[in-house]
Amino acid sequence: MPLYHRLGKIPAKRHTQFKKPNGDFYYEQLFGTIGFDGMSSLMYHEHRPTQVKEIRGAKDVAPQAVLEKNMRSLKLIGFDVEPESDYLDSRKTVLFNKDCHISLAAPKSSFNDYFYKNVDADELLFIHKGSGTLKTMLGEIPFEYGDYLVIPRGVIYQLEFDSEDNRLFIVESFHPIYTPKRYRNWFGQHLESSPYCERDFKLPGNLQTHDEKGEFLMKIKKQGVLHSLVYATHPFDVVGWDGYNFPYGFSIHNFEPITGRVHQPPPVHQTFETSAFVVCSFCPRLYDYHPLAVPAPYNHSNIDSDEVLYYVDGDFMSRNDIDQGYITLHPAGIPHGPHPGSMERSIGKKKTEELAVMVDTFAPLMVTQAALDIDDGKYYKSWLPHD
Ligand SMILES: [Fe+2]
Repeated sequence: MPLYHRLGKIPAKRHTQFKKPNGDFYYEQLFGTIGFDGMSSLMYHEHRPTQVKEIRGAKDVAPQAVLEKNMRSLKLIGFDVEPESDYLDSRKTVLFNKDCHISLAAPKSSFNDYFYKNVDADELLFIHKGSGTLKTMLGEIPFEYGDYLVIPRGVIYQLEFDSEDNRLFIVESFHPIYTPKRYRNWFGQHLESSPYCERDFKLPGNLQTHDEKGEFLMKIKKQGVLHSLVYATHPFDVVGWDGYNFPYGFSIHNFEPITGRVHQPPPVHQTFETSAFVVCSFCPRLYDYHPLAVPAPYNHSNIDSDEVLYYVDGDFMSRNDIDQGYITLHPAGIPHGPHPGSMERSIGKKKTEELAVMVDTFAPLMVTQAALDIDDGKYYKSWLPHD
């Protein structure tokens, strides 16, 4: 996150003695990335954060490819993923490569009997249905429909849901997730031309400090394995922190679309970047206003990337037979574009209410059985004439 934030109490100078009212020390931890060359935060704990009491076991959760070299456009019926009580069990990876795992989840329950951290990947949670609170050792972020939650690798978290009806679209990224560099000036501030700015971010607040000893189950995802460890002190025992490395939220409804006289290219919708994929937000907007404008997109080839679209809400003007929660995959190597009739239908239209999230990966995606279980099986033929 390219801005400085602080919560709780911290010493006036870093790396100096910081004492509790009773004279005992608080324990400092540097929480850094990219070999301590990237963004970092300094936390102050009630207890030494290094106290592992027990290692209980490990479970392989790495996705398995059933279509390793895919050349077929897919349409996945996302809401057909069955709800499950446990958050981690509910996450079903449908598409993946060495850079990212793309999953759907319908968790029914909050998880507060264990803690979780992903130490390999930043996690991007898109909240399609449901609301609640993301609880972390760096503070809490309330979330609701339309929120992206960016959780940097290593952040310990729990999710509290307000109801059982939750739908999440999740991207685990093995490369840091940033806001696009071209949106920021040389100090890191978002430019006037950026479709959003610092004011739109949901920053952690309400830092809760749990000064507790005991047994605290920590599930740690590393190298495709979920390890279960027992910590001897409560993982949320931070009394204060400051820095740049922390989770944040951003509502897709705060993305201000860039429009033009003629059709604007996909990069105007970009919301996040990594070195291996981009995330774009397609939001309700006015259509192109050239007198001869064609609002539907032109046919295009993803020569360099596989394209994943997650359909959230509204009308999807360039697609036929698309509904909420669907995912389409348009693999690199073949062109795609508006469905038959939709280009003609778009002429003269003034605006669209579409809401969708796009992930374009620079390396091809592999397909899991969980994806084929909800695939319609015939989407790749959907550009043929109807007659
Ligand atoms: Fe496309």
